[in-house]
Amino acid sequence: MSSNWRSLLVVPLLAAGAIFLHSQTHLNGFWVLKVPTGDGNFRESYFELQQSGDQITGKQVQGRRETAISAGTFQDGKLHFVLRQTPYDGVLDGGKINMHYQPPNSNMVEGVMERSGAEAARPPRLPLPELHDVPDNGLARTPPMGWNSWNKFAGKVDDAAVRGMADAMVSSGMSKVGYQYINIDDTWEGPRDAKGNITTNRKFPDMKALADYVHSKGLKIGIYSSPGPKTCAGYEGTYGHEDQDAKQWAAWGFDYIKYDWCSADQIYTDQEMQPVYQKMGDALRKTGRPIVFSLCQYGRSEVWKWGAQVGGNLWRTTGDISDRWNSMDRIGSRQFDIAPFIKPGHWNDPDMLEIGNGGMTNDEYKTHMSLWSMLAAPLLAGNDLRSMSDDIKAILMNTDVIAVDQDKEAHPVKKIAETESTVVLARPLAGKSTAIGFFNRGDQPAEISVNLDSAGLTGKKLVARDLWLHQPVQLSGDHYSATVPTHGVVMLKVTER
Ligand code: GLA
Repeated sequence: MSSNWRSLLVVPLLAAGAIFLHSQTHLNGFWVLKVPTGDGNFRESYFELQQSGDQITGKQVQGRRETAISAGTFQDGKLHFVLRQTPYDGVLDGGKINMHYQPPNSNMVEGVMERSGAEAARPPRLPLPELHDVPDNGLARTPPMGWNSWNKFAGKVDDAAVRGMADAMVSSGMSKVGYQYINIDDTWEGPRDAKGNITTNRKFPDMKALADYVHSKGLKIGIYSSPGPKTCAGYEGTYGHEDQDAKQWAAWGFDYIKYDWCSADQIYTDQEMQPVYQKMGDALRKTGRPIVFSLCQYGRSEVWKWGAQVGGNLWRTTGDISDRWNSMDRIGSRQFDIAPFIKPGHWNDPDMLEIGNGGMTNDEYKTHMSLWSMLAAPLLAGNDLRSMSDDIKAILMNTDVIAVDQDKEAHPVKKIAETESTVVLARPLAGKSTAIGFFNRGDQPAEISVNLDSAGLTGKKLVARDLWLHQPVQLSGDHYSATVPTHGVVMLKVTER
C-alpha cells in the first residue's frame, strides 16, 4: 500500500479515536486556569466543573467566594462557558485545555487549564489567634516618607527601576528633606520552594543584593504581601506562612512591609481582620528586626480603632487612589472625621501620592501635597523620581509643607469652615503654631475667608507665613481672606508671638 493510501486510512481512524477520547473525557472536578504574568509566574483561578453529556455547569471558586458559569458546553474537545459575561473558550490538548478569553476593554488572555485538587481552590481555613495587644515597635514616630512602586509601575516594577529610584531619591535631594523608604509593591513574588520559602520572580534576581544597594544609599527598603493565599495582582501571598515570610523579609533586609488584604477575603470575613493582622504583627516582632507595619485593607472594619493594637504603624483608610482630581479630592475629603485616631507611630493612610504622574494640574498636585500634610498622612511618592520636572520637585520637596506633615506633636486636623466648594482646615503644630489650609474644590477661583477665632487665634500677637509662596503674610483683624485658584490651595503657618 502506498503511504498515501495508508494515510487515507490512518487519518480518519485517528480522528475517530480523538472524538472517542473527547467523549470519554469527563471534565468533572476541579481545574486551575493558569495565565502567565510575563515574569515566570502564573495568575491562577480555580473552577469546579460538572459535565452531563456535552453540557457543562459549574463555578469559579475563590475560597468562600463562588461565581457560577453559564452557557457551558464541551463538544469535540472544545470547551466553552461564560463567566461574568466574558466568553471563555478552550481546546482539549492531552490532559490540559488551552484556553482564551477577552475581558471587556482588555486584550485577549491565553492560559492553560489543568486538573487541580479541591484544597488549592478552597484553602483550608487556618485558626485565628486570640486577640492581644502587640507592643508598639517604636517606629514611624512621624508619618513615613518615601516612594512606592505601584502608582507608576504596577506590574512593571523591577530591580533596575528600584535601584534607579534609590539613586534618584538621593540625587534629587528628596532624601535630604525626609524621604527615606523605597517600597516595592506587588508583583515581585515568585512561587514557594520545596521548603515553603517564598522566592522572587525574574524581575528581582537577588533581593538581598537589592536591599543592600538601597541601604548603601542611606535609605530604607520596603516590601509587600497579602495575608491571603494570593496578592491583589494574583501573586503568591503569605497565607499560612506568616512567620516564615516575616523571617525571609528580615533576612533580605527589609525595613517596611505593606500587608494587603486582597484574597484573604476568600477565607475570612471583615470582622476577622484584626486577628489576621495581629498574626503578622506578632511575626514581625519575632524577627527582632525593626520593620514598619503598613496595613492595607481599604479602611474596612474601622481599622483606625484597632490598627495600633495589631502593631500597625499606618493603615489605609480608603480604596485605591488614581491620578485624577476626583479620586484625590474624594479620598482627601473623607479623612476629617477619623483624624483624631492618629498618634505618633500610628497613622491614617489615605494612599500613596500621585504627584508627578501627569493626570492632574500643578495646582491640583499642590492641593494633594497640602491636604496629605494637613492630615499627617504618610508621604509616599508614586511617580518616576528619575524624570521629575522642576515644578514637581518643588511640590514634593516643599520643606515648609513637609514640616506640617511631620510635626512631632501629631495633632489631628480640624475643619474650621466649609462651603459647597471650599474648605478651611486647621491643625495645631508644635511651638504655638497652627497650619491653616484654604482649599478650593470648585471649578472657579474663590475668595475664601476665615474667622481666625475658629482656629483659636484671635486676640493674640500673630505672625504668618505662606507655605507655598515662602514669604510672610500680614494678618490684621480677626479675619483672613485668601484668593485660591481652581482646585488650588493657600497654606499658612500662623505662630503666636
Ligand atoms: C491593592 C492596593 C494597592 C496595590 C495593589 C497591588 O489594590 O490597594 O495599593 O498595592 O493592590 O496589587
